[in-house]
Amino acid sequence: MNKSKSLLHHRVPLLSFTFSLPERSVIEQIRERGMRSAMMITTVNEAIQAEEAGINFLVAQGSDAGGHRGTYEIESNGQGELIGTMSLVPQVVDHVALPVVAAGGIMDGRGLVAALALGAQGAQLGTRFLLAEEADTHPVHRSALLRSTEQDTTITSAFSGRPARAIKNEYVREAANRALTPLPYPWQNEFTQRIRQIAAQQNDGRFMSLWSGQGLRMANKEQSAKEIIQEIIWQANNLLTAD
Ligand SMILES: Cc1cc2nc3c(=O)[nH]c(=O)nc-3n(C[C@H](O)[C@H](O)[C@H](O)COP(=O)(O)O)c2cc1C
Repeated sequence: MNKSKSLLHHRVPLLSFTFSLPERSVIEQIRERGMRSAMMITTVNEAIQAEEAGINFLVAQGSDAGGHRGTYEIESNGQGELIGTMSLVPQVVDHVALPVVAAGGIMDGRGLVAALALGAQGAQLGTRFLLAEEADTHPVHRSALLRSTEQDTTITSAFSGRPARAIKNEYVREAANRALTPLPYPWQNEFTQRIRQIAAQQNDGRFMSLWSGQGLRMANKEQSAKEIIQEIIWQANNLLTAD
């Protein structure tokens, strides 16, 4: 709430929310100040709730996506909602009037064109940009991204208490094998922070959170963010103008 107050005060042009809808009063103030709001959603029902609450546009996160996703209610669904991007985006587009940005597994121009064909207005990429030269991604994380495949990720709550997609490592496997129940978010996040920090200092990928989506074989080179965007646009244009 304090974060929202400060962002409202500074009239930040766009506020993007995840994990749960902001209070109505916050959304009203965003609108009154001429700012915009985005909401991460993982189901049609979440999309409809966001639209009714007055959010300006949606990011539909399929289950392929790396890292955390915005499923509102995880108590009843420990892995978060698991609807793939290809299924989620057109159903959301069909049920709300808001612009939709597609997310999850979009790694290149083909993914962008597919997202547009499904009715999205744009695409949000996370995993591909973890390999951008400008990204603060740990070298151990970078090399894991470069050598892993679509079979190497899983959804785990063991790092933060909220489900998130990461490359399987010793910590993730051990947590699953022992069927440990994590503390609720954000306490588990606090609890594991020191482990992750020390692992990173020691270049020990076994205990780091190696966030990643499923499009891993397409994360195969390190480039500047500018090169990534130019390449994706070039590929998409080629596809859209092909005979
Ligand atoms: C390192 C990392 C951290 C992320 N953290 C969050 C988060 O805290 N909340 C959220 O809604 N999405 C989070 N995401 C998901 C992204 O917002 C985005 O939807 C996703 O990366 C798109 O799928 P892709 O990774 O297949 O490109 C994260 C993604 C990555 C890669």
